[in-house]
Amino acid sequence: MSKTPIKHLAIIMDGNGRWAKNRGLNRSKGHEAGAETIREITTYCASHISIETVTFYAFSTENWKRPKLEVEFLMRLLDTYLKNEIDTYQKHGVRFKAIGCLHQFSKSLQKRIAKTEELTKTNTNLTQVLALNYGSRSEITGAVNKLMAEGKTSVTEKEISAALQTPYTDIDLLIRTSGEQRLSNFLLWQLSYAEFTFTPTLWPDFTAKELDDITIDFEQRSRRFGGL
Ligand code: FPP
Repeated sequence: MSKTPIKHLAIIMDGNGRWAKNRGLNRSKGHEAGAETIREITTYCASHISIETVTFYAFSTENWKRPKLEVEFLMRLLDTYLKNEIDTYQKHGVRFKAIGCLHQFSKSLQKRIAKTEELTKTNTNLTQVLALNYGSRSEITGAVNKLMAEGKTSVTEKEISAALQTPYTDIDLLIRTSGEQRLSNFLLWQLSYAEFTFTPTLWPDFTAKELDDITIDFEQRSRRFGGL
């Protein structure tokens, strides 16, 4: 029975639309407010002693089904966010990485992502991963196909883990905001031994203070990883 610190935190950000609706605003305002929350939470994680990686679910493979105008808005917001975020990344020592099928994004957005990764690659306080056009089943299928293309006829768990797009440590804690309690095809493999926290708070209202309370609660939990 051991108490382990959080090294890898994953977050399903949900509730931007409801946050905006509650205020009589357009959904896009909820997404803008949600982007501010990403900054606040990333800054908290960079100052947290044990957290090495924080992975945010920013755009799923299913999100293309949203109205065209909302998808276009999210793409522009992502581009602006990355452009404006460089100062925060450098100030807090944050390395930026993206996972997902990035080739489906516009060439200019792909360039922005690559440039941000390049500019921040030597930062060591925290790795911020944005899951973009990400789906876990697609990631696992890609890993298996990659191993088969290398000529493997049988594979180990270690080989699958290494072939995934996320070569980071297993996730210790998953948080989902807005009261929904589902995984939505997010990091299924990497969440095998994670602890879960579901909060009714809508993502734009989520704060570093609430995350701090959740991390304190996490540190009290006993994780047995199947042992006694
Ligand atoms: C869910 O809210 C949120 C998303 C679509 C993903 C998160 C997106 C952001 C935080 C926007 C900014 C992101 C970046 C990286 C700049 P929802 O629209 O599903 O909310 P609802 O369930 O209340 O409608």
